[in-house]
Amino acid sequence: MRAAAERGAKLTDLLLSFSRRQRLEPKVLDLNHTIANMHDLLHSTIGGSVQIETSLADGLWHALVDPTQLELAVLNLAINARDAISVGGRLTVSTNNATLGEPASAEEPAAGDYVEICVSDSGSGMSPSVRARVFEPFFTTKEIGKGSGLGLSQVLGFAKQSNGGVRIDTVEGRGTSIRIFVPCSDLAEDRAETAEPYDGGAPRMPARILIVDDDDAVRQIAADILRDRCYDVVEVGSAGAAFGVLQSQTDIDLLLLDFAMPGMSGAEVAQRIRTRYPKLPILFVTGYADRTTLAGINEAQTIGKPFRSDDLCTKIASALNRDARGIAQQTA
Ligand SMILES: Nc1ncnc2c1ncn2[C@@H]1O[C@H](COP(=O)(O)OP(=O)(O)O)[C@@H](O)[C@H]1O
Ligand SMILES: [Mg+2]
Repeated sequence: MRAAAERGAKLTDLLLSFSRRQRLEPKVLDLNHTIANMHDLLHSTIGGSVQIETSLADGLWHALVDPTQLELAVLNLAINARDAISVGGRLTVSTNNATLGEPASAEEPAAGDYVEICVSDSGSGMSPSVRARVFEPFFTTKEIGKGSGLGLSQVLGFAKQSNGGVRIDTVEGRGTSIRIFVPCSDLAEDRAETAEPYDGGAPRMPARILIVDDDDAVRQIAADILRDRCYDVVEVGSAGAAFGVLQSQTDIDLLLLDFAMPGMSGAEVAQRIRTRYPKLPILFVTGYADRTTLAGINEAQTIGKPFRSDDLCTKIASALNRDARGIAQQTA
């Protein structure tokens, strides 16, 4: 069931990145590192008869780009390359500094300096009619069950949303090179740090979390995850009940609040809670549809549905760390 849910979440992500509404978190990156770190992943995904080579440029500029989406894009290109190669073919992933002139097609970025990642294969190449349609979502020449037709849609959507672009060079029967261009960063010294992974420990044990969600199943899952991680959990199914709990229990450390509930919106509930308990950290659980109404709410204070347990725990741990805790002392 988890695999099915994660597949669903991944598909949604692909569609969002195609429609360029993915929430990107750009970081300053040395893409030579990124590619080198993908070595094992590429080998295990592509595997077998295809030889993978890398060619990483010296003195590569730093890029400003979302690392997760970039890795997904490279993986999508590599999978396409593998599919195009017959036994014994070669796949090369390379990096380069690129200074581009005026774009030759809508997919290419505006003139300027970019960091380039190129995936080349010695495979089938594309006919002009295929080439013309490759970025269409759901366009695939692969048999049912093999291709989703969303790989290159993700690549282009992500590259464009990152203020970069894509270029395809292909010769039928000879092979294909696809280049992703991403903006370079001026902040070379500001070396990228990756988000610190959840270390498994809650800041104050046991922190007490109030979960407010009208959907029994969602609330139950969140509660189970948090109890597993040794949090103390109180669950309620409505905003009214949440106010009741906050009045009677003064030791709530954090509120996990469904943004969209019948009756009062999450924003209204939050507003009222902030007035009464200004220091109580709130983490909003949001669906994609809520995002427009979320303007003004910090990303660190939201977690999108469906969430994975590690993501939930990371957000909760950092919310607990960041905010002053204990509403008991300052209210009521
Ligand atoms: N490296 C490549 N060599 C030849 N054809 C390719 C290559 N990459 C993509 N294509 C063509 O573009 C189509 C769309 O690719 P993509 O969006 O990744 O969807 P999918 O891989 O699921 O078919 C593929 O079905 C294939 O026909
Ligand atoms: Mg593909």
